[in-house]
Amino acid sequence: MTSPVRYDVTGEIAVITIANPPVNALGHAVRQGLWDAIDRFDADAQARIAIILGEGALFLGGADISEFGKPPKEPHLPDVCTHIERASKPVIAAVHGPALGGGCEVALGAHYRLAIKGARFGFPEVQLGLIPGAGGSQRMPRLTGVGPALDMMPAGGSVTADQALDIGLIDHLAEGDVHEQAMIYAKGLLADGVDVRRVGDLPCPAYDADAFDAARTLWTRKARGEVAPLTAIDAVEAATRLPFDEGIKEERRLFLSLMETPQRAGMIHAFFNDRKVSKLPELKGVAPREIASVGVIGGGTMGAGIATACLLAGLPVTLVERDEASAEKARATITGNLDAAVKRGKLKDAESTLTKLTTVTDYAALSDVDLAIEAVFEDMSVKHDVFTKLDAVMKPGAVLATNTSYLDVTEIAAATSRPADVIGLHFFSPAHVMKLLEIVVPDTTAPEVTATAFALAKRLKKTAVKAGVCDGFIGNRILATYRGAADRMILAGASPWEIDAAIKAFGLPMGPFEMGDLAGLDIGYMTRQRKAPDRDPRDIVPTWADAMYHNGWLGQKTGQGYYTYEGRKGTPNDAVKPLIDEARGDRPQLDFTPEMIQRRYMAAMVNEAAKVVGEGIAARPLDVDVTLLYGYGFPRWRGGPMHWADSVGLDALLNDIKDWAKDDPYFWQPAPLLEQLVAEGRTFSDLNEASA
Ligand code: COA
Repeated sequence: MTSPVRYDVTGEIAVITIANPPVNALGHAVRQGLWDAIDRFDADAQARIAIILGEGALFLGGADISEFGKPPKEPHLPDVCTHIERASKPVIAAVHGPALGGGCEVALGAHYRLAIKGARFGFPEVQLGLIPGAGGSQRMPRLTGVGPALDMMPAGGSVTADQALDIGLIDHLAEGDVHEQAMIYAKGLLADGVDVRRVGDLPCPAYDADAFDAARTLWTRKARGEVAPLTAIDAVEAATRLPFDEGIKEERRLFLSLMETPQRAGMIHAFFNDRKVSKLPELKGVAPREIASVGVIGGGTMGAGIATACLLAGLPVTLVERDEASAEKARATITGNLDAAVKRGKLKDAESTLTKLTTVTDYAALSDVDLAIEAVFEDMSVKHDVFTKLDAVMKPGAVLATNTSYLDVTEIAAATSRPADVIGLHFFSPAHVMKLLEIVVPDTTAPEVTATAFALAKRLKKTAVKAGVCDGFIGNRILATYRGAADRMILAGASPWEIDAAIKAFGLPMGPFEMGDLAGLDIGYMTRQRKAPDRDPRDIVPTWADAMYHNGWLGQKTGQGYYTYEGRKGTPNDAVKPLIDEARGDRPQLDFTPEMIQRRYMAAMVNEAAKVVGEGIAARPLDVDVTLLYGYGFPRWRGGPMHWADSVGLDALLNDIKDWAKDDPYFWQPAPLLEQLVAEGRTFSDLNEASA
């Protein structure tokens, strides 16, 4: 096998080129290749200076993540970086694109660093539950001081080439071709007679309590249960307190301890899922249709959000409303959204973006658009009316999409003469902010329409998950069940506030009742009303929640719900207690611990998710994990509910479910897929692998 690392000599300059597509990850062959290239350079009498280059778009994409969790193979990356640093002649890292994680550490192992404008230097390790493990935390503060290292490493952040020059991370900034510029720079260094300059030999600024205290306070608040950001701070502290060689050992110890954590496993699971989720076998080789313009029907919060998302992606939007006044209101909402995007730094200029928005009251204006997304009132007859009109005006080959969050998309498609062109695009509110897009695909939809929806999601910078047709699709169907578990726990003795606290302690940003207050308790009430005609007599109704609705306690917007509000700050609303007591009647009461609450909540989530996968609504367990991560605030460091379930053991979870089913057989019906996996001794991860 040829090495991914080439060694060439031009005159007195050795050029070491790493070519390991797609991202120049530092897998075993690259590490060995770099090691050998440095040996060769050391022994090469002709070469007086060496340049390390990365071929392709990146300098180096970091450690090879697919090797994590497997037995490590020598040479290890820290040793490779030290080997570069210990070279007997000067080595330059010439960085033209992203130098990430281990890639940045290789650059720090070199004696001189040149960057081409457009390059980036970053330490994303905490996003994988790790910290720099190849000397980054020890070398960077020696070049830049502690401040920039504490800004970057706990945050998983990066700096541009210009910023890197400012903070002293690099020595030289150039423009143009990296190979040419590196040769010029190398010749200049030779002419100046420079020698090796080992970062590890430089002094590190002394420990500064204020800087570390401030960083720890910030990250204790921000990390919300994640261990890596605080560990990154510990590693930088080690640089300030220990001699270099010992600091390197301490960094390694911290890195390896994180490698063993479930958080690392969860975040790497999430990293690969982000990439697998849009790879569907049925779409392989299917070309999407071109989308150059979009129509949006309905300019309420959802429609305006969708229009904003499309405008932010540079797509011209025609928005249809029923009258001029509503159209103006929609325009005002979109203008507000764009102004906020400018404030958040997501957009340069709202005014020029708004020139791409047309608001109309006549469907005829949609005759030319490539895609229309309906976001009107959630009522089947209203949707039928809209789709009949769309069918009449839209050009052949256009895509007709509905943003319904639960209605039967197959039935909506049947209102048109072209069901193959109809698909569900379920955005989450606010649509221009939330990352998740559920692509709801009825059996009648043409594959290229599904491919078009995935291509659109990419353009809108959304994470798209394919879902089948059922009430609530993947996310809201699972949500309805774990919300149901929370209501049942209230009847069984837990208070809404205990439940919220336990769920937050698990890592979600909000508990279900706080969430209800934020969204408006009228939404839950309306959903219950809608489902009432089909409700199974064995199901329970949260009568206290109905009473709260009738009292006009709709949550934040009315100043009270499960909490009473002063501004956004809520305190438990004691007035809810008697309503709950009444609903409990003489039911036996349990003394719930936070762990018991978490267990039931999560078991309900996983059990319903297993039904969703078993029925083919989600293609794979990983689609559920991605949905919950991007649409429902599930903590990334836990990987997703299915990954969590694998980690606690499916058999134990099933046993619990069967146990609870003795009291409540209707709610705790084990998912057939869960029973099957336990019987076969398999996991959700095995199912993901099988579908790869
Ligand atoms: N190790 C192994 N594989 C990696 C990798 C790494 N460090 N970085 C990316 N890949 C793989 C991806 O899984 C993907 O594989 P696939 O095509 O089989 O799905 C492929 O490389 C392309 O990556 P993708 O993310 O789709 O490309 P991109 O151009 O959008 O982004 C990066 C490139 C490097 C910015 C992005 O992949 C990234 O952030 N990678 C992680 C970098 C990192 O954290 N490094 C530190 C490790 S400690």
